[in-house]
Amino acid sequence: MTVSVPDFFSDPTVIADSRSYFDLVRSQAPILREAYQNTLMVTGFDAVVEILNDKAGIFSNACSVVGPIPGLPFTPEGSDIRAQVEAHRSAMPWSEHLVCMDGKRHQELRMLMGSLLTYKRLKQNEEYLYSLADRLIDGFIDKCRCAVVPDYAHATTTYAISDLMGIPEGDRALLLELIGAPPSQVDGDAVHKVGPDPLIFMKPRFDEYLRDRLETPRGDLMSDLVNATLKDGSKPDFDVVSGLARFLFGAGQDTTSRLIAMAILILGEEPELQHRLRDEPGRIPDFIEEVLRYDAPVKVAYRLALADTTVGGTDVPAGTILTVCYNAASNDPAHFENPERFDIDRPNVRDHMGFGRGFHGCLGAPLGRMESRIAIERLLARVTDIRISEDHHGPAGGRLYRFEPTYTFRSLAELHIEFKPI
Ligand code: HEM
Repeated sequence: MTVSVPDFFSDPTVIADSRSYFDLVRSQAPILREAYQNTLMVTGFDAVVEILNDKAGIFSNACSVVGPIPGLPFTPEGSDIRAQVEAHRSAMPWSEHLVCMDGKRHQELRMLMGSLLTYKRLKQNEEYLYSLADRLIDGFIDKCRCAVVPDYAHATTTYAISDLMGIPEGDRALLLELIGAPPSQVDGDAVHKVGPDPLIFMKPRFDEYLRDRLETPRGDLMSDLVNATLKDGSKPDFDVVSGLARFLFGAGQDTTSRLIAMAILILGEEPELQHRLRDEPGRIPDFIEEVLRYDAPVKVAYRLALADTTVGGTDVPAGTILTVCYNAASNDPAHFENPERFDIDRPNVRDHMGFGRGFHGCLGAPLGRMESRIAIERLLARVTDIRISEDHHGPAGGRLYRFEPTYTFRSLAELHIEFKPI
C-alpha cells in the first residue's frame, strides 16, 4: 500500500529534515513501498539487519550508491535476474567501485583492500593526524571563529587519506580543492543527478602515482596496493587497482568530514557536553558513536533483489530496489530507547548502522573513527565556549542549517562556529 509521504528522492524538505521523513515512514511500516521511484523503503532496524545478513546472496550492491535514479539499464524479467544484472553491470554507474560489486569478485578485492588498512598503518597515520589537527587549528584560532566544513573537517579528511595513501605533499592542496561536496543528486535532470563516476576525473593522476610505484615501491599504501596479489596469487588488472585506489581516496572524505562537522554542530548546541568531554576525553569515542547513530553521513544505501524473496514478511519480487535506510534504523525506537535524545551513555551506543554492516560494511570505519576522534579531541583541547554563529545560522531555537542536495548522503553544507582560544 502506498501512503502520502514526500518524495525522498527530490523533495528539499527531506534533505533539510531527513529525521522527520524517516520517522513518518517508519511509523507506517518498517518496510514500505514509496510511490515515486517504487523502491521499498526499509526503515526498521530488524528488517535492515535481515537484508545486510544476506547469506543467500539475494541482494545485489550493483546500485548501492545511486539507487533507483537513473533507472536500471534493463527491464527485470522473471523470478531471478542474476544473469540480467551480470549482462548489464558495466552500464550501471559506479560499477568499477568496490561498493557496487557482488559475490566472489567483491570478496577478493575487499580482502585485498582490507589487508592494506592495517593497524600498524593506521597507528602511523595517527601521529600525523594529531599534528595535522593542530596545524589546521593554528590557521583559524586567532580569528575566534571557523568555517568548519572547508577549514577543519574537510581539510582533515583529505590530508589524512592523502598521508595514508602516500599522495605527494605538493599535490594535496590541489586535491583538497578538487574534492568538494558529494555529487548533487536532487537538482538538474536525471543524468546529472547521478552524474557519471565523480571519481573518474582523478584517474590519470592516480594512474600516474600507481605506475610510478609499480616501478619504485615506497612503502606507502599505494605501493602496497599496486603490488598486491589476490588470494590465488594473481594480480588484479591495473584498471581495477586504479578504481580501488580512487575509491579508497574518495570514500572516506565527504563521509568523515561531515561526521566531524555534525559532531561540532552538536557540541555547539550543547555546552554541557563540551565541558563533559573536555573533562573526560576518554568518552569522545562514545560521543562519535552517538553522532553516527543520531545523524550519520550515509543516510541510505540501496540493494537490488536478484530473486523473489521476502523481508520481514513482505514479498520482495526480483528486480525490486530497496532503499535501506541506515539513519532510520539507527533511530528505530524498537531498538534504541528515546532515539530522538542525543545520549552518549546509552548502553547500545555502538549498535548503529552508521557504517552499514555485513559483507559491505565500511572498510574505513577504524580510520573514520580515528580521524573524527582526534579532530574533536584537539578542538576541545584548544578552544572553549564553542558557539554556533548566529550571523550564519540564526538564533538558538530558530537555526538554519543547509544540507547538500543529495538523497544518499547527509552532508552539512556549511557550519560556522565561534569560540574562545584556551
Ligand atoms: C565516518 C566516516 C564514514 C562513514 C559514515 C562511512 C560509511 C559507510 C557505509 C554506510 C558503507 C556501506 C555502504 C553499503 O552498505 O552499501 C561504507 C562502505 C565503505 N567504506 Fe565507508 N564510511 C566512512 C569512512 C570511510 C573511510 C575513511 C574509508 C576509507 C579509508 C571508507 C571506505 C569504505 C569502503 C572501501 C566501503 C565499501 C566496502 C564494501 O563494499 O565492501 N569509508 N562506508
